[in-house]
Amino acid sequence: MRIDFHTHILPNVDDGAQNVDTSLRMLREMEKSQVDLVIATPHYFSLDEKPVAFKQRISEAARILQDAAAQNGQTMPRILLGAEVYVERNLLLTEDLDLLCIGDTDLLLLELPVSEFREWMYTVLSGVTAIYNVRPVIAHVERVLSRISKKDLKKILEIPGICFQFNHTAFNDRKAKAFIKKVMKEGYPVFFGSDCHGVSDRGPTDVSGYAQIRQWLTKKMGKDFPERLSWVQCCELKIE
Ligand SMILES: [Fe+2]
Repeated sequence: MRIDFHTHILPNVDDGAQNVDTSLRMLREMEKSQVDLVIATPHYFSLDEKPVAFKQRISEAARILQDAAAQNGQTMPRILLGAEVYVERNLLLTEDLDLLCIGDTDLLLLELPVSEFREWMYTVLSGVTAIYNVRPVIAHVERVLSRISKKDLKKILEIPGICFQFNHTAFNDRKAKAFIKKVMKEGYPVFFGSDCHGVSDRGPTDVSGYAQIRQWLTKKMGKDFPERLSWVQCCELKIE
């Protein structure tokens, strides 16, 4: 199964697809790349909106998208709703944050601020499990690597249930690839996504992009690699 784990595919809900037509075009590109499952992860800011209202808003956008696809006679990959939850200091005070987990899973995608890593960020990452009984998934973790000390990274790796999401562009970065290899070898759940926001600019990953990623993963992880993965760990690989 090929999964795009991080997308801004839903129309008119964040800085991703600005209308239904763009969403449908993005989905057509994903179909060409044989994506079977798309996780919709619109940006969520706890200071702006309660999870219940956000969930209603994105569910409505998903319904509009499904209706438009049906009207056009367009087939499309299955879409699961989630969110890209921005990590702010008071996030753990948010009621019903677990509503924003992906589909029926206990996976909560968390986006760290673009600043040096701070202790309060660690408190939020490690606190979501205790408070909401969910597993934290650090969104595009490759962006964090340059802003975090070895000591803090070690602490993060020790958070129970911690998971990592990498953008497909991480495979263009030597340091990111070394980290992908490390966490996969150590058995952490790893997810890959395009983080697409539109069609041409920050668009979905194309066929050759997936082929390159697959080639690198197979080379680095060995020929028995696919057999050792569950569906959540093989978000890029298309397992027959
Ligand atoms: Fe994103």
